Amino acid sequence: KILIIDYGSQYSQLIARRIRELEVYCEITGDTSIENIDESVKGIIFSGGPASVYEKDAPSIDKKVFDLNIPILGICYGMQLITHLNEGTVEKSDKREFGPAVLEILEDNILFDSIPKNTNVWMSHGDHITKMGKGFRKIAGTSSSNAAIANDNNVYALQFHPEVSHSEYGMKMIENFVFKVCKMEKNWIMKDFIEEKVKEIKEKTKGEKVLLGLSGGVDSSVAAALINKAISKDLVCVFVDTGLLRKDEAKKVKKQYEELNGLNIVYVDAKKRFLDKLKGVKDPEAKRKIIGREFIEVFNEEAKKLKEDKEIKFLAQGTIYPDVIESVSVKGPSHTIKSHHNVGGLPEDLKFEIIEPLRELFKDEVRKLGYRLGLSKEIVGRHPFPGPGLGIRVIEEVTEEKVRLLQEADEIFIEELIKNDLYDKVSQAFVTILPVKTVGVMGDVRTYEYVVSLRSVNTIDFMTAKWSRLPYELLETVATRITNEVRGVNRVVYDITSKPSGTIEWE
Ligand code: XMP
Repeated sequence: KILIIDYGSQYSQLIARRIRELEVYCEITGDTSIENIDESVKGIIFSGGPASVYEKDAPSIDKKVFDLNIPILGICYGMQLITHLNEGTVEKSDKREFGPAVLEILEDNILFDSIPKNTNVWMSHGDHITKMGKGFRKIAGTSSSNAAIANDNNVYALQFHPEVSHSEYGMKMIENFVFKVCKMEKNWIMKDFIEEKVKEIKEKTKGEKVLLGLSGGVDSSVAAALINKAISKDLVCVFVDTGLLRKDEAKKVKKQYEELNGLNIVYVDAKKRFLDKLKGVKDPEAKRKIIGREFIEVFNEEAKKLKEDKEIKFLAQGTIYPDVIESVSVKGPSHTIKSHHNVGGLPEDLKFEIIEPLRELFKDEVRKLGYRLGLSKEIVGRHPFPGPGLGIRVIEEVTEEKVRLLQEADEIFIEELIKNDLYDKVSQAFVTILPVKTVGVMGDVRTYEYVVSLRSVNTIDFMTAKWSRLPYELLETVATRITNEVRGVNRVVYDITSKPSGTIEWE
């Protein structure tokens, strides 16, 4: 495998995805102790990061890493670290270099195989190298920096970011590093992955029962399909209807999973419990906490009942790789993990062993796997849906009536997006109901009803997002249909806020 040591770059995951796209297995770690680098590691990448190597407490690594004779590629901060550890000098630049630059390749090096002499690369750094480390030479430059250096021991370092798409031949450089320098072979192929996992699940569970919380979302559905393929008769899925789901979600989920023959699902109707607990609560974070707690409680009660019925030893979760690595970077968590994704907080008397068959996969890989397992586009291609559901899309107090209006309006919006072939072109679209009534007129009658807001965003990682440029005609149709068909709503607005400043959800 290739090991990526994450020094806190926003691009670390992107590096990993690029390597996975090459069908080569890689891992990201925030652990810099070299004791854990075993013979399975055929190449190491030091990522970029926000720190400066000359700062006190700057994240580093034991110099002995250079004695392991494993090829190393340092990117940005990684380059500066390599230089620093090899007695070179890194200094603050007068100006940050940010944006495109023209790279000029200065020597025939396998890292640059099949790459033209001059190409565009993407720079983003504040420090630069004023003296190269011992044994290093410059192999490519830009007008303002030592863009690439190498030594005779397969240690390479790049000042620019080959992993971002603005670096024209960046992917080729990564490919050359992986296959030509590290001499890796392709070892990450979906078909093999399914076979391996099926075998692993069978071996691990040995005929014992497995419980899985099914949310209707992509991750838990794919996990269910995979485990179902391995041990169909021993899998029990629990689907909790919180009443805060999309319209007829429970029914739809039921229908969709009929395709997965033999999937055993227990439906729990907890609608009333959630509404009761949310009565009078306006604060978004308070609502999130209540919903999260209640969900765990319902799930645990159900698990207890099932366990009394038959011994259940394992709990399966749809945890995916970004959930696992969100907090691993050397510099500490770059953002907080959303706790509602998975069932947490199991009480002492309800101990399970955990199975997480998707732990190594990125979202796009989970989708690929889902299709390979025969799941429909309707499940695999779904937009993400937040754990607290419509509880955070009814602004302020959640009532049964507002949830119903919201469900109706949301269904119209989604239906029109699908009809116009736009659903797959946006990353997430939904409706929010505001705690405001406004005056309207309908058939000569004055109305005084709620306002809903449509939101649709395009994003890669959901950390930043742009509002979707939806056609006016579509917006008009949606607005007309909502005000005509949803009694209680007389005004529709379209949210044109990017993230930042607005988050994707309104609460
Ligand atoms: P924000 O609103 O933070 O949303 O820009 C980013 C993505 O996360 C989803 N989201 C949540 N998911 N529990 C979840 O499981 C939550 O509390 C939560 N809040 C937001 C949101 O739908 C978007 O996809």
